[in-house]
Amino acid sequence: MYPLIRKVFFQCDPEKIHDLTIKSLKNMGGSPLKWLYKANVPNKPVQVMGINFPNPVGLAAGLDKNGECINAFDAMGFGFVEIGTITPKPQPGNDKPRIFRLPEASAVINRMGFNNKGVDYLIEQVRKSKFNGVLGINIGKNKDTPEENAKDDYIICMKKVYEYASYITVNISSPNTPGLRNLQYGDSLNELLSAIKTEQKALAAQHGKYVPVAVKIAPDLTEEEVKGIAQCLIANDIDGVISTNTTLARDKVSHLEHGGEMGGLSGQPVREQSTKVIKELAAALEGKMPIIGVGGIDSVQAAQEKLDAGASLVQVYTGFIYKGPELVKDIVKSL
Ligand SMILES: Cc1cc2nc3c(=O)[nH]c(=O)nc-3n(C[C@H](O)[C@H](O)[C@H](O)COP(=O)(O)O)c2cc1C
Repeated sequence: MYPLIRKVFFQCDPEKIHDLTIKSLKNMGGSPLKWLYKANVPNKPVQVMGINFPNPVGLAAGLDKNGECINAFDAMGFGFVEIGTITPKPQPGNDKPRIFRLPEASAVINRMGFNNKGVDYLIEQVRKSKFNGVLGINIGKNKDTPEENAKDDYIICMKKVYEYASYITVNISSPNTPGLRNLQYGDSLNELLSAIKTEQKALAAQHGKYVPVAVKIAPDLTEEEVKGIAQCLIANDIDGVISTNTTLARDKVSHLEHGGEMGGLSGQPVREQSTKVIKELAAALEGKMPIIGVGGIDSVQAAQEKLDAGASLVQVYTGFIYKGPELVKDIVKSL
């Protein structure tokens, strides 16, 4: 059925269809989808970061930025749903158009720029959902917060989402918020992670529960940079790493319509580089921390490639847009 839906969707403006889909899924909730999809997805439990996941295939951040459709995505069979990126204050994001399909490459370029309704709205949605599955909440900084104060935004979000999240993702790898990726290096990274660790300890004591923190990184890193990040993650006792976000590289798509658009490229063209970073991370981390693999997963083989490279869990976004919920079922069944 999805190929037909996709045909209709792909005739329309990508962002309009995205908004319409989110609205419909929000109204629909979980029930009809549970019947359609989840019933066919087998249980493949796995424990990662101390959390029990019903299966290792998750929804990547950015599709449900405000946490409005958690139950609908759960009903499609995902083993976990990551919502966000959310920022302390609501913000409109970049000017439209800001999302482009590249169907010849099974890819997307986006420069959304963390458009979201703010952390308080997201919490309201999570509360309303009464969801009791595995929920990741991905946090970021507002565009108008200076780089040197970025830490404050992450801490504000962390405090607010802590009691609602199964795990928290610190997103320092979106290419669409100026300066954000600078937080991946050297002293900036160390200062940020050490502040986050301190806050996590305080919140764990306050709430009587430990919520793991994962850091999401970019694919556009040299092996040396990956090693540097891995050492810093270990030194600060971070619980997991999500690899990777979208890429700035355009070599695989520059000849295509929209191939030159600014923003982050996702889907098939980022698959190889994302797997390479996972391999490098796995070598540098020496099993000290789990990796969540994401980037270009649109088939059973692509998911297996990430697991073989060293990931314990996988996430999908662009592959899901192109293939629909069947993709989740196919991957889980194959594992
Ligand atoms: C339109 C769009 C918006 C995204 N927004 C976010 C976001 O807000 N936060 C985030 O961490 N990643 C975001 N991502 C990145 C995805 O979560 C994922 O890391 C990346 O797209 C690679 O996976 P894929 O090839 O399966 O899409 C976004 C991706 C797309 C295509």
